[in-house]
Amino acid sequence: MKIIESRSELQGWSDRQRAEGHRIALVPTMGALHAGHLSLVKTARERTDRVIVSIFVNPTQFNDPSDFEGYPRVMDDDLAACREAGVDVVWAPAAEELYPQGAASSATWVDVEGLTDPLCGSNRPGHFRGVTTIVTKLFLAARPHVAVFGEKDFQQLAVIRRMTVDLGFGIEIAGGQTVREHDGLALSSRNVRLGRNARRQALVISRSLALAESMVAQGERSHAAILEVVRKQLDEATQASIDYADLRDPESLLPAPESLDGPVLLAIALQFEPDNTDNTDNTDESANVGAAVRLIDNRILNPKE
Ligand code: PAF
Repeated sequence: MKIIESRSELQGWSDRQRAEGHRIALVPTMGALHAGHLSLVKTARERTDRVIVSIFVNPTQFNDPSDFEGYPRVMDDDLAACREAGVDVVWAPAAEELYPQGAASSATWVDVEGLTDPLCGSNRPGHFRGVTTIVTKLFLAARPHVAVFGEKDFQQLAVIRRMTVDLGFGIEIAGGQTVREHDGLALSSRNVRLGRNARRQALVISRSLALAESMVAQGERSHAAILEVVRKQLDEATQASIDYADLRDPESLLPAPESLDGPVLLAIALQFEPDNTDNTDNTDESANVGAAVRLIDNRILNPKE
């Protein structure tokens, strides 16, 4: 496995692979890799014969500086996981490679309108602008045929698909299914920062998705009734604040109709405030560093199934 730091070296590698007729997939990550990322690598490998994993904790997509500082950084473990997964290249650029003038003085941004307004967009100002800008830079350097993103970040995937079409990148965007812990919690690099209480309470997210799914399976079609039950369950089971619990059209991300007549996205985001009295089971140094931990998850509810 090759480890590349510079953007020009990656471009050179990629151009050579293309010239030799290989197909390249890019799996963009911010590191702290878990089984969810590795399943994206597997998806990438199924589609192409060359796989690049980029590891870069992108400062411009964090609206909360303490979240950026506390984001787990475990490069040695990440490299070992990539090696084990058969990745061809890990691209781990320094910030200057991607923001030559410094991230704070960057003047050029890629912004997708509309799709970025609701859900995470309304709670995290500037977040998606940071994501779409960095993903554009990653695409320009890696020149992949395929790029793979997790479906846990449903809105991010929708935004990147739209950006790829609008900017004519000619890259296939593939989604990878959410991977879960044995108890249903969606894998996230931020899970290691949950204290014991928060970890237990976080299970309410997947429980609420399942509850909504069973309501729909039993014939419930009322948007308001489903959300009322979901929000009540979230409220009762956790001290976390509910950033959102929303039913949306899976394509446009506009609010789902009052009476469900086709597939809808149920998306949930909870924010766990730091709790210094919550002795964590976690021995990870990045746990309980004083930053809030924000968890998201989603499910498509299909009344026709
Ligand atoms: O999903 C992530 O980890 C990040 O948002 C991404 C796509 C790697 C961009 O920094």
